[in-house]
Amino acid sequence: MPPAIETLHLTRRYGREIALDNLNLTVQEGSIYGFIGPNGAGKTTTLRLLAGLLAPSSGEVRLMGQPQSVGSAQRLVGYMPDVSGVYDDLRVREYLDFFARCYGMAAAERQNTVRQLLDLVGLTEKRDAFVQNLSRGMQQRLSLAHALVHNPPVLLLDEPASGLDPRARVELRELLRTLREMGKTVLLSSHILSELAEICNEIGIIERGKMVVSGSVETVRQQLQGNAKLRMKVLRDRRQAESALRMLMNEAKKADAGEEEQATDDVAERPAGLPPIRRLIADPTDPQVILIETEAVDEDQQAALLAYLMAKGVAVSEFGTQVESLEELFLRLTAA
Ligand SMILES: Nc1ncnc2c1ncn2[C@@H]1O[C@H](COP(=O)(O)OP(=O)(O)OP(=O)(O)O)[C@@H](O)[C@H]1O
Ligand SMILES: [Mg+2]
Repeated sequence: MPPAIETLHLTRRYGREIALDNLNLTVQEGSIYGFIGPNGAGKTTTLRLLAGLLAPSSGEVRLMGQPQSVGSAQRLVGYMPDVSGVYDDLRVREYLDFFARCYGMAAAERQNTVRQLLDLVGLTEKRDAFVQNLSRGMQQRLSLAHALVHNPPVLLLDEPASGLDPRARVELRELLRTLREMGKTVLLSSHILSELAEICNEIGIIERGKMVVSGSVETVRQQLQGNAKLRMKVLRDRRQAESALRMLMNEAKKADAGEEEQATDDVAERPAGLPPIRRLIADPTDPQVILIETEAVDEDQQAALLAYLMAKGVAVSEFGTQVESLEELFLRLTAA
């Protein structure tokens, strides 16, 4: 099955500025793809190119395996812009009916479509309200209904969660799940990674017009996570724990430098298979917690380290790997 959305070396310039630089993006059919990047990264530009509202400077867009044309973009794509225009003195049902007319639907089909869409986005009760009187969250939902009028297989949602309260975000998430069950392919943008990580099965991070990393949430996490961290909590005498760990760290450094190991008691006690420790980090929120940064660490190495600390008389109450939150990874990645 060809990908629902594919871009090949997609590039867009505004004058001399490159807003999008050789972007290769692939979204499989049925995916919910989170497109994440800071302000000015090129998200809106990409979405507008995919929707056929902007022409590429070079490169290509493919939709459902076919090269994009004006007609195919209109038929295959539903686009929800980050800010929708205001339509004064139009009621909710009239607003949707207007766009259904634009797609040439007959009266009976329009009525049916408007009813189903209002039901889908939870605006049935507001069908007679004026569009300009809807709350921000309701306007977002109406805008989504608008994008769905012609039942396109691909949806492009630009910052759909911005300005929504926590409850509205949960509702948006549920709506996205429903869209997925309907078989739609959804690409949505945000500058907040954690907002998308739960709903999306794939994410891509864009910065300054370039894709930095993309793939499943798990793949991205693995790609970004350079160093592993262990977290341990000591019951008392944190210093003793730290000095035992520092000793290990120094030994590792000496070994790196090619110095011969000295046959001290400590070395003799040292169990085999300990992880190479890079540095110790204090946890500002809990003085009893020590974060241990290592290179990749496996379970055997973890067990060996715990055994070593216990042999040193350190009272460890908690011990495990610390998973860096996606938000932390994102900030580290997009830091200037
Ligand atoms: N019409 C335009 N004319 C000139 N430059 C533009 C135009 N639209 C966007 N740009 C520039 O292209 C770059 C990417 O902008 P874009 O709107 O795609 O970013 P974005 O990722 O959507 O940002 P945000 O999170 O703020 O919405 C920016 O440097 C912006 O200034
Ligand atoms: Mg934008």
